Amino acid sequence: MNILEKIRLTKIQIEDIKSDINSPDKLEQFRIKYLGRNGLINELFEEMKSVDKSVKAPVGKSLNELKLFAQKIFDEKKSDFEKKNDGMADIDVTLPGRTFNLGSKHLISQALEDISRIFERIGFKVYEGLEIEDEYHNFDALNTPEHHPSRDMQDTFYVKSEVKDKRYLLRTHTSPAQIRIMENQPPPVRVIVPGKCYRNEAISSRSLSMFHQVEGLYVDKKVSFRELKGTLDYFAKEFFGKELKTRLRPSFFPFTEPSAEMDVECYLCKSKGCRICKYTGWLEILGCGMVDPNVFEFVGYDSEIYSGYAFGMGIERTLMIRHGVPDIRMFYENDIRFLKQF
Ligand code: PHE
Repeated sequence: MNILEKIRLTKIQIEDIKSDINSPDKLEQFRIKYLGRNGLINELFEEMKSVDKSVKAPVGKSLNELKLFAQKIFDEKKSDFEKKNDGMADIDVTLPGRTFNLGSKHLISQALEDISRIFERIGFKVYEGLEIEDEYHNFDALNTPEHHPSRDMQDTFYVKSEVKDKRYLLRTHTSPAQIRIMENQPPPVRVIVPGKCYRNEAISSRSLSMFHQVEGLYVDKKVSFRELKGTLDYFAKEFFGKELKTRLRPSFFPFTEPSAEMDVECYLCKSKGCRICKYTGWLEILGCGMVDPNVFEFVGYDSEIYSGYAFGMGIERTLMIRHGVPDIRMFYENDIRFLKQF
């Protein structure tokens, strides 16, 4: 067989198998067989070197045509396969979809918002206080002068400061916000202040060195203790969503007179007495009372005309009751299994 015949046969062969090239793998086999460095077409070019000079020109011409022909088929098929890949051809629509988890607000943030809404419904405005306070607002103006024994009730974190004659601290309660608000506006005042507080406490299932409180303050003419009780009852019903019994117990705070603490029925034992409530059947959730006239003195309100009540509740405690959380540390371990439930 002379070389021209071989060229013609190869072309027929290529035409024949063209329709069999139906996958990228087969296309690659085709390329290696015909167009590769050791492929048939290169072999023919080798062979051409030894043909008679007189036929070199026509042989060269048809060999070049063969090469272009094979290359064209290769290019066409290749672009066909690439097009398919751009579309849906390789996507398995029966595979399950990918899910991704949405985050959600932390239980504490949710609670601060819930509580704010509950009080907003009865006319309270929401304020933010300062987390770094001075001694004056955290203690003095709240009727707690320097050597007053009640300063020892709260172990304070002091903050290093360059300011002379003024000590700064991490607020031990949200009550300093009462002072800041009254300093800045005349009565009437009806506000709540949610936020973080800090105390240097031994960490246990019941206490942490950082926790949240919501402070409430209502000052107007003729505000009575009865209104305080009514407001707290309303709150307890709204927040716990069920008929949990509450009770007020006489207590002491330097900035309220008279003072009380509110307890809620123990969620675990339903007031029968257990480890969580220390066998009392009750859990304390807030301190409250009528604003002490001395405090009004500090902010320049006339205590002959105005009276008011204040309260401060511990959020973690309150949530432990609402959701039956047995250990306060669970709020901050950020275990997804815990967080996911809320
Ligand atoms: N600030 C008090 C505390 O941290 C609570 C309180 C607030 C009591 C307002 C009376 C009035 O325990």
